[in-house]
Amino acid sequence: MASWKNLDTLQSFQELQKMENNVRLTEVMAGESGAARVAKYTVPMAGGLSYHYAAKKVDDTILSKLADLAKEAELTEKFAELYNGAVINTGEKRLVLHQLTRGQLGNPVIADGVDKFEFYKAQQKKIAEFAAKVHSGEITNEKGETFTTVVQIGIGGSDLGPRAIYLALENWAAANGLKKMDAKFISNVDPDDAVAVLNSVDVSRSLFIVVSKSGTTLETLTNELFVKDALEKAGLDVSKHMLAVTSETSPMAKNSGYLAAFFMDDYIGGRYSSSSAVGGAVLSLAFGPEVFARFLDGMAAEDKLATEQDPLKNPAMLDALIGVYERNILGYAVTALLPYSQALSRFPAHLQQADMESNGKSVNRFGEPVNYKTGPVLFGEPGTNGQHSFYQLLHQGTDIIPLQFIGFKKSQTEKDVEVQGSTSQIKLGANVAAQMVAFACGKQDENPNKNFDGDRPSSFIIGEQLTPEACGALLSHFENKIMFQGFLWNVNSFDQEGVQLGKVLAKRVLAHDTDGALKAFSDLLGI
Ligand code: F6P
Repeated sequence: MASWKNLDTLQSFQELQKMENNVRLTEVMAGESGAARVAKYTVPMAGGLSYHYAAKKVDDTILSKLADLAKEAELTEKFAELYNGAVINTGEKRLVLHQLTRGQLGNPVIADGVDKFEFYKAQQKKIAEFAAKVHSGEITNEKGETFTTVVQIGIGGSDLGPRAIYLALENWAAANGLKKMDAKFISNVDPDDAVAVLNSVDVSRSLFIVVSKSGTTLETLTNELFVKDALEKAGLDVSKHMLAVTSETSPMAKNSGYLAAFFMDDYIGGRYSSSSAVGGAVLSLAFGPEVFARFLDGMAAEDKLATEQDPLKNPAMLDALIGVYERNILGYAVTALLPYSQALSRFPAHLQQADMESNGKSVNRFGEPVNYKTGPVLFGEPGTNGQHSFYQLLHQGTDIIPLQFIGFKKSQTEKDVEVQGSTSQIKLGANVAAQMVAFACGKQDENPNKNFDGDRPSSFIIGEQLTPEACGALLSHFENKIMFQGFLWNVNSFDQEGVQLGKVLAKRVLAHDTDGALKAFSDLLGI
């Protein structure tokens, strides 16, 4: 059994604190030494990706101490305990089994009398069979017309991951003749969200998937009724259009009014549920089960890499260690995710939840306050759009913000145009290369306003093309990075008590049980 200790009690961490950081990116990333670092500091990932960390403030001495830290913190052993079915989510007393939805890394996990790998596989099979019937026209609307659109109703983990992946693969699937249905998403309880989506689809030819693990999320239940109302008003048989994805113990599971229901369980955290039925249903309907299976293969291959003991061969662990070094030794409070890929436009939003809901904690897994910083703020936008927006602060602001760039050699479609001697894809690549060097090396200028200090760290995940395998590998990389960071900070990355207080107060407002500022704000809103 691994021992769970606070980061600041680990000897290798204390040694890291005493070590000076002499890595000046302005020097080491300049000229030939920069080229040598780019060639040296790289780890292969699954899905044709690789992780580059040449432009991080590390050298062989720091990396070797980080490897000591990984060993002392027993990261590999803790991951093994997790995938072998230990109660890692101590707060909620739950197993943590999302990796099992895409492959079995260890022993069979039997929980509640069920082999969980078989359970998740059976759900995927059920979804695949259902999707095939929808695509072949065996399942149609009342008029016998095929369904053209699938609309997912869910929020948080029941929305962000599936939405980000759908957007990531939509153009790729269309370019490869694999797109079967359009997918849309309703999440916000703002009625304008549901109205806008409903206005953009033919409801008579749409399937709606209500996705909620708990089956109690107010936003989702409200939007379900919103959609049912629209279906009724259109004179349609609601039960022919509604599907459910939930856990077998939720109130939704008891509702027989769905055309079909697919299940996950409490051992899959919402923000880690994209590889379960939560992502499986919408993505299999949109692109076909084969594409979803390829996405899962990419995840499984990357999960396998995460079991490597040596951080220099384990990209997620290395990324996690460097991130903790930046947070707890160098003191950087924020990190940005910058995909140079329009298809990844919602990836930063998904990773905001995955990372910040997991590691935004002030107490350790035993409920004791920790004396060090935990999860950083994460934000991001696709490049090059971000360059024309917030990069000013990234280049010249008073805070140093470590950057995670993502890019691909090829676009997802064959369509491109050559202007002034280069294609759009080449221009995109040129920009990401330029930015990494600009942040690292800076530029001296006599005019302080035009001076770039440089020494601003970044890492780079580069791939051939954003395929389903690459997309899966990318998502697994970040899920596992977050998990390893949670282990290092000794927090429980798998509960989210911090979202409860707001929910309770909102209920009081709705029940008109308010006083003081709660009443005053409610009055301002006319509630
Ligand atoms: O309120 C936060 C949260 O519990 C997230 O962790 C979760 O992803 C989201 O709500 C949706 O939950 P559910 O799938 O149970 O509706």
